[in-house]
Amino acid sequence: MKTRREFLQSTIVGTAAFCFSRFPSLAASSSEAKIEILLGETQGTISPNIYGHFTEHLGAVIYDGIWVGPKSKVPNIDGLRRDLVEHMKKIKAPVIRYPGGCFADSYDWRDGIGPTDKRPRRTNFWAFSDQSPAKHRYEPNEFGTDEFARFCKQIGAQPYLAANVRSLPAQEFSRWVEYCNSPAGSTTLADERARAGSPEPYNVRYWGVGNESWGCGGNFTPQEYAVEFRRYTAWVPGYGKPLDFIASGPADHDLSWTKGFFEEVLRKGKEQLNSIYGIGLHHYAWNLSRGKTNDWEKGKGDALQFDVTDWYELLREGQRLEPMIESHWQAMGEFDKDRHVKLVVDEWGPWYRPGSALTPGDLLEQTPTQRDAVFSGMTLDILNRHASQVAMGNCAQLINCLNSLYLAHEDHFVITPVGHVFDLYSGHQGGELVRSVFSAPEVQYDRDGKPATFLGLNGSASIRGKDLLLTVVNPDTKQARETTISLAGASATSATARVLAASHIQACNTFANREAVVPRSAEVTVRSGAITHVFPPASVAAMAIHLV
Ligand code: AHR
Repeated sequence: MKTRREFLQSTIVGTAAFCFSRFPSLAASSSEAKIEILLGETQGTISPNIYGHFTEHLGAVIYDGIWVGPKSKVPNIDGLRRDLVEHMKKIKAPVIRYPGGCFADSYDWRDGIGPTDKRPRRTNFWAFSDQSPAKHRYEPNEFGTDEFARFCKQIGAQPYLAANVRSLPAQEFSRWVEYCNSPAGSTTLADERARAGSPEPYNVRYWGVGNESWGCGGNFTPQEYAVEFRRYTAWVPGYGKPLDFIASGPADHDLSWTKGFFEEVLRKGKEQLNSIYGIGLHHYAWNLSRGKTNDWEKGKGDALQFDVTDWYELLREGQRLEPMIESHWQAMGEFDKDRHVKLVVDEWGPWYRPGSALTPGDLLEQTPTQRDAVFSGMTLDILNRHASQVAMGNCAQLINCLNSLYLAHEDHFVITPVGHVFDLYSGHQGGELVRSVFSAPEVQYDRDGKPATFLGLNGSASIRGKDLLLTVVNPDTKQARETTISLAGASATSATARVLAASHIQACNTFANREAVVPRSAEVTVRSGAITHVFPPASVAAMAIHLV
């Protein structure tokens, strides 16, 4: 049996990609559903960073995805793909994690600075995955810290850099901070940064101390990693600005990692907690075997060819994030009584078997469908609902990879259904979470001859002044839900909705058909301050409600 840990040491197998149509019944029958929004019960500010992204030197994420080079015919801003920058501005992308992922713990940041033609070529961490084509095998280092900082600046996003703990000494971590943050003219590295076009510091605030340190990031025990964490974060120069260190956290439900890490860090005293801003949590939804196997390869499903049961199985796997957040949070509370440390869900998304890439051969690229849109809406709602516990979320990965918002190749660029969900949800950033209670009949489905259920409607709500944003997913593949939305503590003057629904559950956007799945405006009835709306099957909706 193969686990994710073993996979990261070896392999992925791929075939050709295609998109196909299948039409389940979309008959819109109504069934009672209610959403009650309790405006008096605010539950914390939704960190804008929950809407963050993740980019790794992996396959075509950086080269072809983000970076086309300044001499390219592809419209670009100093080498950065223009369409990508523009759309990321539109969705107010708040933070971007880089350069990995597993790649981070094999990366020497010095390889990616200085004159481009002098930068070394290296073997990429992912070079010898089974599916890795030669074009992705060797790292040209054309894109490095300065290019990434410019990418973030163009978008208006904060950089979140992941440092190499597995294969570089702690001094190199300090020096990378020095390169990014030391004042103009102050150090040799600041001068080097100035020669690259930025005399002023980048002021990088978020620093990941390794990645998946239980696996590709060093194969540590939680106790060993905690010792490294203390060492790497001791006396890092701050230059008068805050540095927020993010510890490499558990995969999924692994509470022994969380507990072991905190226990060992605290062996040196409670004040050690001051150096931890957050602890990472990674959750990929991959096992669609309906309980038959836990094998990393055999358990995966296809991104495009799936049936209704696969739809619910994926959502079920995604929904597991909610109890994961709660159990890790509880475990953290045993050590961090004052709740200083937050959760950083810095990798999330579905992970399918290879074969659906829009550009065949792009390592780990998959084509997102309406299923992934519903999955992503559901996940963002989970993160919103845990606003006081989760400081950041980073969807894996931004472009040409797993749950990508965008797919691109040469001069082709398309926004996936996932990208549209980030657009629909962007108004939650910085809003105050308000308690919402959803009551809707559960979805019943057949799980290989056995009856199974999944949540009916679900979502989250946030408020900013008189403006309420309600996001809702209807996971039911067949049933539209007529819903009454009541507001406790205010009444609505007007409401508008944008809805992402599709003609069939496997619908996806491709280079040839870029608008198969796009959000559309939908009618909302507001009568005597109360709201009714019909949420289509298999949909994601954002409703903007103006209050009296
Ligand atoms: O996102 C792909 C990989 O998944 C990342 O490099 C790693 O951190 C995780 O296992």
